[in-house]
Amino acid sequence: MDKLVIDNRGELSGTIDISGAKNAALPILMGSLLAETPVKLSNVPHLMDVTTTIQLIGSMGVEVMFDEELRIEIDASNVTSKEAPYDLVKTMRASILVLGPLLARFGEAKVSLPGGCAIGSRPVNIHIDGMEKMGAEIEVENGYIIARSEGRLKGADILMEPVTVTGTENLMMAAVLAEGVTTLRNAAREPEVSDLATFLVKMGAKISGIGTDTLVIEGVERLHGVDYEVIPDRIEAGTYLAAAAVTKSKLTVNKVNPIHLGVVLDKFREAGAKVTTTANSITLDMRDRELLPVDIVTDPYPLFPTDMQAQFLIMNALASGESTIKETIFENRFMHVSELIRMGADIKVDGKTARIKGVKELYGAPVMATDLRASASLILAGLVASGDTVVNRVYHIDRGYELIEEKFHKVGAHIYRLTD
Ligand code: EPU
Repeated sequence: MDKLVIDNRGELSGTIDISGAKNAALPILMGSLLAETPVKLSNVPHLMDVTTTIQLIGSMGVEVMFDEELRIEIDASNVTSKEAPYDLVKTMRASILVLGPLLARFGEAKVSLPGGCAIGSRPVNIHIDGMEKMGAEIEVENGYIIARSEGRLKGADILMEPVTVTGTENLMMAAVLAEGVTTLRNAAREPEVSDLATFLVKMGAKISGIGTDTLVIEGVERLHGVDYEVIPDRIEAGTYLAAAAVTKSKLTVNKVNPIHLGVVLDKFREAGAKVTTTANSITLDMRDRELLPVDIVTDPYPLFPTDMQAQFLIMNALASGESTIKETIFENRFMHVSELIRMGADIKVDGKTARIKGVKELYGAPVMATDLRASASLILAGLVASGDTVVNRVYHIDRGYELIEEKFHKVGAHIYRLTD
């Protein structure tokens, strides 16, 4: 299994181009199953989860091709299988997102039930209940969700509680081909949800309320192909900005939409950074500035994202004072804490809250990545720790950060991969 070794101690400087958003690309790839003619996608990041998705829709008979500009062309005119097998779902929970499109277009789907994962139990009851409300018959048998619909799904009024990103996406994809109007209340407002909605509208769907917590979807009979560019990855951008903060450096992230990082940029400023933006770039300057502790509570968009929690935790671990971070979205998303403690951090977890006392120095150590964002925080810790940090189980990072070593090399970080 690959490892990342980080023996950095110096400042970083320069510009990093941000890739397309993983959490927008995955639902959009699955949403391509709804189109009767080919879809062309650009700005799709090269990530393990994207490869898994292509494998998944490919196994259903969808033709996937890459053109010379690395755009992906997806032709779902000949879908032969409506099944997402356990082998693929177990490696990527987002596979559940084929349920809505398959059921809406073909009236049937068989999708392995995702199990729990490192960050929490992550049930999919809201996806299933919503589709049942739309008239689907759903059974869970031998670990599989087996869904059927007699004719088209029917529009319904659905209240989702709690707010769920993939739940909103799955139900939106089910509703676009349903008969009548579906109202999704308490919908997730994440930019990735809006990107999927915009993509579906370009394919001929009728969706209003995009970007709000109430989505109204008037079903249409068919959807067509489209050329579409995926939005930039706000979490990847935020992670590199956090790298600038912990290393007291100045970095610019390019090809990004600063509006998507609103509250996150406010928190960077509260942490003492100078943050400036243009229409498509963000510069964070932490040179000769004191890293200040910031209290954080994670919440659905537009509030502070859980996917940036681990990165702010390591910032706080190095800040001049005490802080708390409350994780309200996932019940087990502090797995990085015990690894950071091994590197010298002073953090105590009490239920949903981490209490952090800033320390002056961290020490390199072999550490274990447990999930994608936890791994990112270990790399950030490695960038400032004295001595070598070896991050094991790097496959977690490869699921969500495109070309991470290359991007860090470009701004002067010492980080390299050991392949067994
Ligand atoms: N929930 C339910 N029932 C459901 C669905 C969700 O109780 O049917 C609960 C979950 O257990 C959780 C909360 O609702 O406590 C929110 O979970 P959500 O469904 O929003 O999470 P998700 O859709 O599974 C997506 C991202 C995550 C990101 C979360 C929160 C994708 C593919 N994944 O997950 O991304 O953390 O939203 O913003 O979009 C990551 O990129 O590292 C990552 C984990």
